[in-house]
Amino acid sequence: MHKSFDLFFVSSNNHKYHEAKNILDSFGIRLGFIKSRLEEIQSNSLCDIAMAKASYAFSQFKKPLIIEDDGLFIDSIGGFPGPYSSYVFKTIGNRGILSLLKNNRKAKFVSIITYCDKTTLQSFEGNLNGKISKSQKGKGWGYDPIFVPNNSVKTFAEINNKNELSHRYKALKKFSKWYLHK
Ligand code: IMP
Repeated sequence: MHKSFDLFFVSSNNHKYHEAKNILDSFGIRLGFIKSRLEEIQSNSLCDIAMAKASYAFSQFKKPLIIEDDGLFIDSIGGFPGPYSSYVFKTIGNRGILSLLKNNRKAKFVSIITYCDKTTLQSFEGNLNGKISKSQKGKGWGYDPIFVPNNSVKTFAEINNKNELSHRYKALKKFSKWYLHK
């Protein structure tokens, strides 16, 4: 099992894996999938959460791997939900977020990709500025129907080139440069 890949993505989220696979394919890196829900430490730092998650995943699976931790940071509510994005999505969801916002709708998506193997633990960050739409638009996962990237009038759920500009793309592009030369 898991033999033909050099690098694995450990996550419980199929959407994240499919996007990461598509992006890394374009950089010539083949990505396997270990579907697993990893325990998360509580912290205000996405990077600390990602590093802890990656070390834990490596201790479990003992294969070179990457994990991802994301946050949606909304300006007018002090960067909330940030590191609590997953919990907030499960509890109040997109409707709840929309009900909290007025005129200032600026937001950013942050992705931390952390690589771990026997000797190395290294993180890569990708940020994408944008805003929160006034209503949900398009069919997409997570916050896709309410996040409008800068220079677009459409939400992530409505565009067809998300994987060429997303926070995930930016973090994985940095990772790929490093990984292919390490
Ligand atoms: P986590 O990294 O799984 O904790 O993700 C934080 C939250 O952000 C989860 O609710 C995800 O569904 C959501 N999320 C992360 N990346 C994306 C994305 O690209 N589109 C939409 N929602 C996302």
